[in-house]
Amino acid sequence: MFPHTSDNGAQAHRRACAMLGFWQFLCLATGFVAASEWNQLGLALPSAEKWDRVRAKSDADVIIKKAFSTSTVYERLAYLTDTFGPRLSGSTALESALDWTKAQIEKDGIKVYEEPVKIPSWVRGREYATLLSPRTKDIRIAGLGGSISTPDGKPLVAKAFVVTSFDDLDKNSHQAKGRIVVFNVEFEGYGTTVDYRENAAGRAEKHGAVAVLVRSIAPYGLQTVHTGVMNEAGIPAAAITLEDAKRFERMQKRGQDVVIELYMEAHTLPDRLSRNLILEIPGSEKPEELVVIGGHMDSWDIADGAMDDGGGAFVSWEAIRLIHELGLKPKRTVRAVLFVNEENGSKGAIAYAKEHEHEANLTSIAIESDIGTFTPFGISVTCSKAAKAILTDLGQQLLSGIGSGNVSGTEYGEDVSYLYDQGVPAGSLQVLDFRVGNHDNNPCKGFGDGVSGGTDSSRSAYFWYHHTEADTVDKLDPEQLQHCAATMAVWTYSVANLDSLLPRD
Ligand SMILES: *[C@@H]1O[C@H](CO)[C@@H](O)[C@H](O)[C@H]1NC(C)=O
Ligand SMILES: *[C@@H]1O[C@H](CO)[C@@H](O)[C@H](O)[C@H]1NC(C)=O
Ligand SMILES: *[C@@H]1O[C@H](CO)[C@@H](O)[C@H](O)[C@H]1NC(C)=O
Ligand SMILES: [Zn+2]
Repeated sequence: MFPHTSDNGAQAHRRACAMLGFWQFLCLATGFVAASEWNQLGLALPSAEKWDRVRAKSDADVIIKKAFSTSTVYERLAYLTDTFGPRLSGSTALESALDWTKAQIEKDGIKVYEEPVKIPSWVRGREYATLLSPRTKDIRIAGLGGSISTPDGKPLVAKAFVVTSFDDLDKNSHQAKGRIVVFNVEFEGYGTTVDYRENAAGRAEKHGAVAVLVRSIAPYGLQTVHTGVMNEAGIPAAAITLEDAKRFERMQKRGQDVVIELYMEAHTLPDRLSRNLILEIPGSEKPEELVVIGGHMDSWDIADGAMDDGGGAFVSWEAIRLIHELGLKPKRTVRAVLFVNEENGSKGAIAYAKEHEHEANLTSIAIESDIGTFTPFGISVTCSKAAKAILTDLGQQLLSGIGSGNVSGTEYGEDVSYLYDQGVPAGSLQVLDFRVGNHDNNPCKGFGDGVSGGTDSSRSAYFWYHHTEADTVDKLDPEQLQHCAATMAVWTYSVANLDSLLPRD
């Protein structure tokens, strides 16, 4: 995952006020703005409400009941991750997983189709690292996506130079030459610290380093290595555990020479053809207008990708399945996109946005689930103030009963960010990610409150498992998945049934 945020609230507010004439008309027409919003603007509450709240509430209740009565989503996710395992872009496993998923969706009786996507194909190959001095020890590594191999397909042996930041590296440039530069960088938050995974190799190469080992981008470690994409560089790069990174720094401080042997076969093959899977229920009144949800099917090659992001993809599928199975007929088309290649290049998301550009102004909202499928508490969304008021009202009316009707924050998923760029209101499912750590139970302070990269992800369970071998389905809770599916289904169905598309600035 890589969450995006665009918090220009003040600007949005100015735009909303400038648009008031239009907005007022729209809100009156839909009868749909939270009382507080109206009062804030000094407007009288609309007298007539065209929205059939009673019907919307009873449909939402039926969806929620159905979602909690079946563990389909967990069973399917467990089957996917157990059977196909990691689903790296370019791998046969990803393609087999897509085939299986498509066949299941067809069995559900839901319309499903594929759209081709050319995706990069990076191969890890064999890799190892060994500490040779001051003692012999295996070093757990995970080559970074996009890395090259060690030169001439041979192991390289070099002294390590440990730095704690790019500044530290720049100040001690002379010590980096000919060395394996180890980055022992304290985790501040995913959005900020990930800079080191992405750019350590490029920066160290400029100082003459022969390779880099980057402390895994995670708040905590149990000897886990976290892979992830890096920007192109001319030297090999791998992640190491938090424990080893700290150990090497202690050794260096004591004046001990840290000597490491590194071997990596990593290389990039020509791009391969893959596909996005798209499933939908055509709208009964306005089939050309859309609500889009989704998650991504690809994962890193060391991870089963249950959290990142099989869970997100499958709760999106389940949301559509619930609406379908209940025989509910949304006015607008509801569509789930199961994207490929989020992890390295987002080629699936880019292809979807390009192919569906003509629908950008017809897409009411696009919501991704890619920050875990823990207990949901609502959605974050970047949209107009008027749209936010409508969504807030919907959430309160339809989802407060299961606690997932909050509309807070401005984040939106990586895969829907390209739709956002086309003007589509974009969002993210918000989850209470505090199974580990000492979260204070305030959803407004949880990861996903719009301060992406802040200290929040330091408490996040999601980032304990992110891009590791430990991202397996046993970490997920069937009931939380059902809760996420119920939430996605209700948001999707209710927005699809509004009188109008969500208003834009
Ligand atoms: C994706 O992978 C290719 C091949 O490994 C690499 O060259 C490129 O930098 C990566 N790009 C992104 C944006 O992830
Ligand atoms: C969408 O609407 C905006 C604003 O009216 C317009 O500038 C843009 O060209 C439209 N995009 C498409 C693809 O029709
Ligand atoms: C917002 O989240 C809190 C905490 O999870 C929950 O108790 C509350 O019911 C939610 N509100 C709505 C409208 O769902
Ligand atoms: Zn992801």
